[in-house]
Amino acid sequence: MKLILDTGNVEEIKLLSDILPIDGVTTNPTIVSKEKKKFTDLIAEIGEIVGEDIPIHAQVLSTKCEDIIEEAQFISALRKNMYVKIPVTSEGLKAIKELSKRGINITATAIFTAHQGFLAAKAGAKFVAPYVNRLDNISADGVGTVNDLVQIIDQYGFDCEVLAASFKNAQQVLELMRCGVHSVTVPPDIARAMMNHPLTDWSVDQFIKDWENAFGKGSKTNN
Ligand code: G3P
Repeated sequence: MKLILDTGNVEEIKLLSDILPIDGVTTNPTIVSKEKKKFTDLIAEIGEIVGEDIPIHAQVLSTKCEDIIEEAQFISALRKNMYVKIPVTSEGLKAIKELSKRGINITATAIFTAHQGFLAAKAGAKFVAPYVNRLDNISADGVGTVNDLVQIIDQYGFDCEVLAASFKNAQQVLELMRCGVHSVTVPPDIARAMMNHPLTDWSVDQFIKDWENAFGKGSKTNN
């Protein structure tokens, strides 16, 4: 399963990508707007941190097919390993179909049903991104929708991965891992919730105390 960071905050990306084996960074217009930086500068900065082999996903703002195509080509050319996020409106789907033919890597986004994900995969998207928590927030079944989509993508053998997005807690991520989701993109707070446990820190303190009581303060296995 790919683990991707859903943030444009370069301090967080630096800190977390030093620790975790991340497989990419996703942004969207809301995420970029929080950073108060020029879009192209921000993508370059993220690229410097993660390196050219790690994909970055960034989203178009255009809503008409011809404009989406033009904007997607601009974003795609920003660096190696660039994925263009396109919302699955009817104009978006039309653009995904055309851009995929031209070899542009597409991440279809703002997906709220398995049908939309299926159609985007069929149009040639390399990733399809259903919004788990936004579905849960409207009393729909976010995890169930992703589960359906994973089954559809696997069953028909699409060259496409389900990239689950929009998380509020680590439990949603766990439930998707149980159903074999291909990729998740998580904000920094959820990456930390997956990574940290107070009992791990407590256990390490206890090991050191026990060791130092027996062998003296500051001693280690190698001295
Ligand atoms: O990047 C898209 C998605 O992750 C949005 O998440 O938390 O704004 O619903 P959220």
